Amino acid sequence: FNLPQAFNEPALSYAPGTPERARLKAELDRQYSQVLDIPLIIGGEEVRTGTLREAVCPHEHGHVLARYHEAGEAEIRLAIQAALDAKADWESTPWEERAAIFNRMASLISTKYRYILNAATMLNQSKTAHQAEIDSTCETADFFRYNTTFMEQIYRQQPESNTHTWNRVHYRALEGFVLAVSPFNFTAIGANLATAPALMGNTVVWKPASTSILSNYYLMQLYKEAGLPRGVINFVPSKGSTLGRIVLDHPSFAGLHFTGSTGVFNSMSKTVADNVGKYRMYPRLVGETGGKDYIFVHHSADMVEVATALVRASFEYQGQKCSACSRAYVPASHWPQLKELVLGMMARIKVGDVRDFRNFMGAVIDEASFDGTMRYIELARNSPSAEIIHGGHGDKTKGWFIEPTIIVTTDPKFVTMQEEIFAPVLTLFVYEDAKLDETVQLLDGTSPYALTGAIFARNRYVINRLTEALANTAGNFYINDKCTGAMVGHQPFGGARASGTNDKAGSFLNLIRWTSPRTIKECF
Ligand code: ALA
Repeated sequence: FNLPQAFNEPALSYAPGTPERARLKAELDRQYSQVLDIPLIIGGEEVRTGTLREAVCPHEHGHVLARYHEAGEAEIRLAIQAALDAKADWESTPWEERAAIFNRMASLISTKYRYILNAATMLNQSKTAHQAEIDSTCETADFFRYNTTFMEQIYRQQPESNTHTWNRVHYRALEGFVLAVSPFNFTAIGANLATAPALMGNTVVWKPASTSILSNYYLMQLYKEAGLPRGVINFVPSKGSTLGRIVLDHPSFAGLHFTGSTGVFNSMSKTVADNVGKYRMYPRLVGETGGKDYIFVHHSADMVEVATALVRASFEYQGQKCSACSRAYVPASHWPQLKELVLGMMARIKVGDVRDFRNFMGAVIDEASFDGTMRYIELARNSPSAEIIHGGHGDKTKGWFIEPTIIVTTDPKFVTMQEEIFAPVLTLFVYEDAKLDETVQLLDGTSPYALTGAIFARNRYVINRLTEALANTAGNFYINDKCTGAMVGHQPFGGARASGTNDKAGSFLNLIRWTSPRTIKECF
């Protein structure tokens, strides 16, 4: 059996006049004009609790797209049981068959589900068509395809044998069930968090973020259509506190696959530590958490490339990518030139309803994000060490809209240089060219995170020096490229320090966490 060769799903442009654009628009209209009733899916069955929550458009928060049923204690217990019941059959399904289902998921995305998932991601998560395409279509399909090849690489890793002994490693799934907790910002992350453990033979209880329910629900439909057996992934939108209390207390809890805030991951890890004697196995804790991602500019860099990278990395998807740039260090000698280039680009950015394809940005995800971000912007406005050189205003009347905002600070430890904001706010520090090493040290000591970072320089020796000096500041490090846009199969993704356990999504390093290998020696 040969697995199909994995490849990256090519992104469509949705250029005016193309049939793809017309089809996406039609799907947007369809989803916009209905109010979907979204049940829980437990053991393949639709479950309705009657505790209804609304899924809205962030760019038009009065518009309800769906009402979803929230799981309570009883349904969470039911989901755990469904996952445990499905486990034996699923784990013993030949891995080639599991791979076939995942490749079928990818094919369905590149055709029918492309439009469904993109439209849902645009409407409920306020992504532009391009941002939705590279996330809910391309990255999601890429995870499905590449993960099958990583699985194969793992399973083919076998020890030496000889004529009298046959040594083998049996890559069992974990003993129990896995909990997947996913964020709103990437439909692909939600897909990967639940499916990567499943691909390795585990069964999963999946709690999606309350702000990305629509696309996440359509993923469940896709899994079913591709032939994923019932109970392998159980969909339980729920309150984090209720879910955590029940799931983390269960003796069969075997792993957590998480993307979200450092605070929540820390608190879940503490609960796991408190319960540690209770579990059948030591649970795997795999988390991607916060970030304070940076771009560092040397004077030898190409300033047009730098300006483009700063604008794209900081403001695409409203700065809500885990990898988004939110602090930058620029050399005083080139700041006037760079400022002019950046402000020139910023002047052309349009913010608004993502159904108007001319908009480069939509709204931030919800009111809490809007209010929190505006508080940071006010801090900058009132600080003598900060100046807002672009944007700085928000309007939440119709949608959670915040202007892309650039703050320049004279204090390299200013609060917006240190804390994650997760919104369209970039803070810049202009350093004296002669203080390069000092500034690099400052960067390293400014934030507890280490997710992504980028340097721009053309001087080879400087590239080498910075790459070495910044070794611990990012799990994904870019040289002369923006710090966003990691591709599955090309740049395995994940951060260290307070940014997570660094079990690289989109690589065998992640999949390997979802097996508990048994070594077998057989004598003849
Ligand atoms: N692949 C996403 C990025 O790197 C997470 O921006």
